[in-house]
Amino acid sequence: MLGLSKKIDEAINFIRSKWDGAPRAGLILGTGLGGLADQIENTVAIPYGDIPNFPVSTVESHTGQLVCGTLRGVTTIAMEGRFHYYEGYSMQEVTFPVRVMKALGVDTLIITNAAGGMNHQLSLAQVVIIEDHINMMPDNPLRGINDDSLGPRFPDMSEPFNRELVELAHQSALKLGIDCQKGVFVAVSGPNLETRAEYRMLRNMGADVVGMSTVPETIVAAHAGIKVLGFSVVTDMCLPDALEPADVSTIIEVAGRGGAKLAQLIPHVVERLPAGE
Ligand code: HPA
Repeated sequence: MLGLSKKIDEAINFIRSKWDGAPRAGLILGTGLGGLADQIENTVAIPYGDIPNFPVSTVESHTGQLVCGTLRGVTTIAMEGRFHYYEGYSMQEVTFPVRVMKALGVDTLIITNAAGGMNHQLSLAQVVIIEDHINMMPDNPLRGINDDSLGPRFPDMSEPFNRELVELAHQSALKLGIDCQKGVFVAVSGPNLETRAEYRMLRNMGADVVGMSTVPETIVAAHAGIKVLGFSVVTDMCLPDALEPADVSTIIEVAGRGGAKLAQLIPHVVERLPAGE
């Protein structure tokens, strides 16, 4: 997209006028998972509305700010609240913060989300380490003219979720006694939840969890050469033959329970991130 580099520059110039850290890790905190930001120390919080070219979050359950500081000694920039395609933003807007994180020096992005569990081995509030994804959203953030200074026209997707980080997360969960599974995440546009027939189809495609985010950010991170680690928290079980009506306030409550696990797990992982190249 033409002009994107200029927009990124404007945003990072503003952020640098408020905070002079050199972040290594980026965090995107999904629905009900914002509590982790409380563990970041020496913080500077910047409301999205203040940052040039940043969209503003419209979802009630999300606080919209960048929390910049250190997490277990690692300079980190966290998005408390993210932008969703269903809110009406373009894919470029949804993923703009990832471009900004890259320009600030982030080399590892940890993305979290609340998701529906379609694999019957999953349970409510369980953590799933995302091993791979399927994009069922009707759009792609890389559509349009490619800015070669930001990444290649046809980015490789053989390993969008870094295997070394998946392993680190798995070992960390075992050490902390947090019950988790690995799985495939499928992204849909939302905002409605899925029909029984859709859950059946998505499960048959090979997905374990379904949500309305994460894939756009992961695609842009792959384009930008950022390593990604993704986590879902299972907030509702989506078994087509035993489907209960979903209720958003319950989903947010269950996300909070899973979020407490991620608030233990993610700092443990961040502290052990492999040295950058
Ligand atoms: N479908 C899509 N997104 C979701 C779900 C779901 O069942 N649960 C939480 N986010």
